[in-house]
Amino acid sequence: MKTQGINSNFSEAGVEALAVAVFKQEKATSPTLKELDKLTGGLLAPIIKDEDFKGEIGETALIRFSAKGKVKASRLLLVGVGDKADYNAASVSGVAGAATRFLRKRNVKSFALMPRCEDDAATVAQSAAQGYVTSQFELDKYRTQDKNSKSVDSMVLFVEGAEESALKSGLARGVAIGDSMNFARDLANEPPNILHPTEMAKRAQAMAKETGLKCEILDEAKMQKLGMGSLLSVSLGSEQPAKLIVLKYEPKKSTAKKGELLALVGKGITFDTGGISLKPGEGMDAMKYDMSGGATVLGTMRAIALLKPSVPVLGVVAAVENMPDGRATRPSDVVTAMNGKTVEILNTDAEGRLVLADAVAYAEKQGATRIVDMATLTGAVIIALGDVNTGIMGNDQGLVDEIIASGKAAGEKFWQLPLGPEYSKSIKSDIADVKNIGPARKAGTIIGGVFIQEFIDKAKWAHLDIAGTAWCDSERPFQAKGPTGVAIRTLVNLVERSA
Ligand code: BES
Ligand code: MN
Ligand code: ZN
Repeated sequence: MKTQGINSNFSEAGVEALAVAVFKQEKATSPTLKELDKLTGGLLAPIIKDEDFKGEIGETALIRFSAKGKVKASRLLLVGVGDKADYNAASVSGVAGAATRFLRKRNVKSFALMPRCEDDAATVAQSAAQGYVTSQFELDKYRTQDKNSKSVDSMVLFVEGAEESALKSGLARGVAIGDSMNFARDLANEPPNILHPTEMAKRAQAMAKETGLKCEILDEAKMQKLGMGSLLSVSLGSEQPAKLIVLKYEPKKSTAKKGELLALVGKGITFDTGGISLKPGEGMDAMKYDMSGGATVLGTMRAIALLKPSVPVLGVVAAVENMPDGRATRPSDVVTAMNGKTVEILNTDAEGRLVLADAVAYAEKQGATRIVDMATLTGAVIIALGDVNTGIMGNDQGLVDEIIASGKAAGEKFWQLPLGPEYSKSIKSDIADVKNIGPARKAGTIIGGVFIQEFIDKAKWAHLDIAGTAWCDSERPFQAKGPTGVAIRTLVNLVERSA
């Protein structure tokens, strides 16, 4: 997959197709459309005038025309981008992605894109390249025939009058982020017999070696020594030993305030059967993506290693399989977490918070002063927010606001839910410090949040519940069905904003 930036002669790029963003209610007489109408010998204008194409977001129309002279292309693809007022650099990734997916289905190998976004050119280029790369991910890795995966080999990005160096560096950044999202999506898509905790740790190690991150894998004996009784209680029923994956990015020259360290912590349940509190059979297969929070951490750390911001970042993934077995944890068992708190486990299917309890405590012990954890933690967040917004909560409004703003710039949506003493009270246990569930059907997502909060000491902390947003049940114009790589772009922004 190649990318290139140009700032003049759009129609003369030596490609098979030209793709152009078109605004809602744009007139066929706008300068850009008029020029393209001429290029197509008058085929474009009637399509706009008669509203065969309205410029709605995700809408596409293809026009075939005869290539002449310096113009090699014989296809013009219109890509709707909706209202001009709402259009920005973050939207460009969807436009590039929709164009790429449309064209690759028709076996087109190269195209030039005119996104017509007036934001900073490097940011537009980054967004375009990321959309181009992520739109080509497919989940049919294990098919031996009928693959969806024809590829578009090259995208030429046209931004009129832009500095070529800005386009070039923006495109390179976008490819790095897009590849890292696809890396995370591939992990989430892996079947659980292949991607168990040991394999997840191996992939993290290989990625770290390739990108220059430090990587340490803690085995169960080491975790036992550290007192991680909560995390280890989840893996008791599994033949697959748990692994704590620890990644470190350290810049050559840090601009971080002395003692400041951001940690990203992920839930990496490689399969969640529910344990002894067994889940119903229907839909259980979906629980292979219960390691998506961990995948987001690995994907973000990969992107950071490539982009080299000037602040250090710690990544921690609790990779564990949750299975029922003669040795598995029972509802009513009591365990002790690394920070000394005792937990009465009343439902072994509320396992994500049990592994995160020790993972966040570990991150803080490693010196983290800001901790962001991400997890496919609750079905309740899917009921509340669907697959549109990621649920966010935390103990520091500044950090929560910073993540929401980073998301906005990346085109990812977050919706805050409250925490508070009334909710915390409802996880007090009769026989231990806390229990791992609250009252039935009440504020399920928040209860997950206040539970994790019990294991944060002084750090600023935010929790992202990505259960609804980490997997997409049907194809989108710019994205295959399946794992989304959610929050990676947001977290990259968060890191870079603090650099
Ligand atoms: N991994 C699940 C949450 C989940 C459910 C993610 C559906 C994606 C789709 C989590 O471990 C879980 O089972 N949560 C329980 C918690 C409950 C037992 C308090 C839930 O949400 O039902
Ligand atoms: Mn569960
Ligand atoms: Zn789970």
